[in-house]
Order: sequence, then C-alpha cells, then structure tokens
Amino acid sequence: MYAIIGGSGLYQLAGFQATRRQVVRTPYGEPSGALTFGRIGDGDELVFLARHGYGHTQAPHRINYRANLWALNEVGVEKILSVATVGGVSPDCGPGQLVVPDQIIDYTYGRANTFFDGGDQPVVHVDMTLPYSEVVRQELLQAAKSVVAIRDGGVYGCTQGPRLETTAEIRRLARDGVDIVGMTGMPEAALARELDLHYAALCVVTNHSAGVGSSLTEISLDDIRVTLDHTMQSVHRILGQMLGQ
Ligand code: HPA
Repeated sequence: MYAIIGGSGLYQLAGFQATRRQVVRTPYGEPSGALTFGRIGDGDELVFLARHGYGHTQAPHRINYRANLWALNEVGVEKILSVATVGGVSPDCGPGQLVVPDQIIDYTYGRANTFFDGGDQPVVHVDMTLPYSEVVRQELLQAAKSVVAIRDGGVYGCTQGPRLETTAEIRRLARDGVDIVGMTGMPEAALARELDLHYAALCVVTNHSAGVGSSLTEISLDDIRVTLDHTMQSVHRILGQMLGQ
C-alpha cells in the first residue's frame, strides 16, 4: 500500500475518496494527525498524512517524524511518496519546477533521527548510498511524463528551519552541490530506510532560495503561495496518474 505524506499546500488529494480515518498510537508519541485511508478513482487503497498536521500547526523541526513513519509502517504501508515544497538553489530549479531528487545532504540538528537509539536496541547503521527508492522515483517520473516536464535527480539539502536561509548559507549549499533546499526531507528519508520502506519525494520549487536569481530581494511569502497554488495542480494530476488507476 502507498502512503502520501503531504507537505505545505497539500492537505488533501484531488479526487480522493476517503473511506476511514485512523488514529495510530506509537512508542514515539503522536503522529502529525490521523491517517486517512481512501482511493483516488479506481486506484488501490492508499493512506494520506498531512505532515504539518491538518491545520498546518507543526513547524518542520517539531514534526514527530518517528511517529509518522512508525504509524505508516504499522498499518501496512510499503511505499511512501513525500510531497514537499523547496527553494531552488541551482539556477535551473526556478519557481514552478518539479524535482524528483536522488541525493540528500542533512544540515538539520537536534531532531530525533533514528529508531535505533541505543539502550536495549542493537546499533544498526542503515545504508544510505542511494537515499531514495529507485522504484518509487521511477513510478513518479513515469506518471509525470504525460503531465509536465520534471527534473529527474538533484541534491536535496535539508535545513533546520523554520526560518529561511541567509544568502551566505545558500552559497555554501550551492558549493556543496545542493540543487534544492527544504526543511522536512530529513530525518524522514532515513527513518523510512530504517523501517525498510520505499521512499521518494516529489519536490515543488516555490521560490528562488535566498540571494539566487534577482540578487538580494527578499523572498515573498505571497509569491510562494501563488506559485504553490499553481504548481499543485500539476502535482494532483501526477498523483492521479500514478495512483488513480
Ligand atoms: N528554503 C527552505 N525551505 C523552503 C524554501 C526555502 O527557500 N522554500 C520552500 N521551502
């Protein structure tokens, strides 16, 4: 079964017929919200979870990533598609671009980022050579083909947030090889790997990140909203194509 973890701007799926909601308790506390089960069209049953909570109340550094992943695993999810907004760092990732990244750099700190936390648990070091599932990436890219041009691959840099980055921070990220920057990709991807779940991300570029493009103009949240509303229409069509039949 597929799960979709919806980020900013994605609180419900177009054409989604919800059949039931389930509150799942986990050893790690509460997930961001109840899991919503349902279908898009005649597609297979899937689960939807709003990453920031249904009223968008949870900041990126406060999300209980462990509870979210644990809950999805608990109800039998095997594949996860994360939808997340990002800023564009590389010049060819402008506002409105969709990106399916293939690499991650984690700049976050202080987040509960593993299920293997010592104590009675054995120490486990999961492999992250390829942090995203190639199976889910390819399904996503295939579904997008008939909808919109999409960038296959790129390095996702995950910052701590909730503030946006400084221009110097973005320059450093660019030197590191980061193409897109967001605040929620980690530890989500690593926790999915620890549970052996296939995980990939569809990233919506909502803005040039700080200092990229027309230099040193502030990032406008209103512009972000407009781009997001517009680009989400393509996201809904891709998800419908991928999961709706
Ligand atoms: N930086 C970090 N996260 C983001 C951005 C950004 O510029 N835009 C959307 N999410």
